[in-house]
Amino acid sequence: MEVDSMRSIAIDGPSGAGKTTVAKALAERMGYYYVDTGAIYRSVGLYVSRRGSCDDVELVESCLPDIKVDLEYGEDGLQHMILNGEDVTAAIRNNEVSAYASTVSAIPAVRDCLLDMQRELAKEHNVIMDGRDIGTVVLPDADVKIYLTASVEVRAKRRWKELQEKGDTTPLETVMEQIEQRDYADMNREVAPLRQAEDAVVVDTSELNLEESIDAVYQVIREKLGEEEA
Ligand code: DC
Repeated sequence: MEVDSMRSIAIDGPSGAGKTTVAKALAERMGYYYVDTGAIYRSVGLYVSRRGSCDDVELVESCLPDIKVDLEYGEDGLQHMILNGEDVTAAIRNNEVSAYASTVSAIPAVRDCLLDMQRELAKEHNVIMDGRDIGTVVLPDADVKIYLTASVEVRAKRRWKELQEKGDTTPLETVMEQIEQRDYADMNREVAPLRQAEDAVVVDTSELNLEESIDAVYQVIREKLGEEEA
């Protein structure tokens, strides 16, 4: 029997709940690999957006053999997304790519294609992995499972602020509508919909600032792994 000595922490939840920021900070604190699985779907979304419409499932499927997504960890300790040799870390962070990522992520062939990649990473490293189906599908035996959430108003405001800092002037109402649409799509798709794993601990960050959110999640990890390990 294979002995799996690696630790894995799964953080799932809707967009804008703070998963990425919290997971990144804790990975650094704990010396774990941070894997942002949304960024992997975004890279596929970006590739498809450059080819045409993502509503054409056959076209998306036909693209898959040509897509090579690599994760590189730079000296900055951050995850860089490399799409067929091109660093797309910044290019995947806009609203258009968000919508493409959400659409391609509902296609079973896309999910199958990315599943092994995510599991391999967890086999090779202690990971904190964030996404939508990590605790339910990708790593059902994760040592710690957290469902990080917040109200739609709070999540929209956070995303809107981020966009404004980047010079994107999309109005708050539009950002809120986009978040609601993505929530609906992510929670109601047939394959691997976003839902809370039965054994996940829910952390609601609506009333918490960033530091408090990080501490709340760290507390759950310490309780599950024990103080020596976390
Ligand atoms: O977390 P994010 O906004 O970067 O994710 C982009 C899209 O990818 C989101 O609409 C849902 C999808 N996704 C997914 O289906 N499964 C994951 N494990 C991670 C993201």
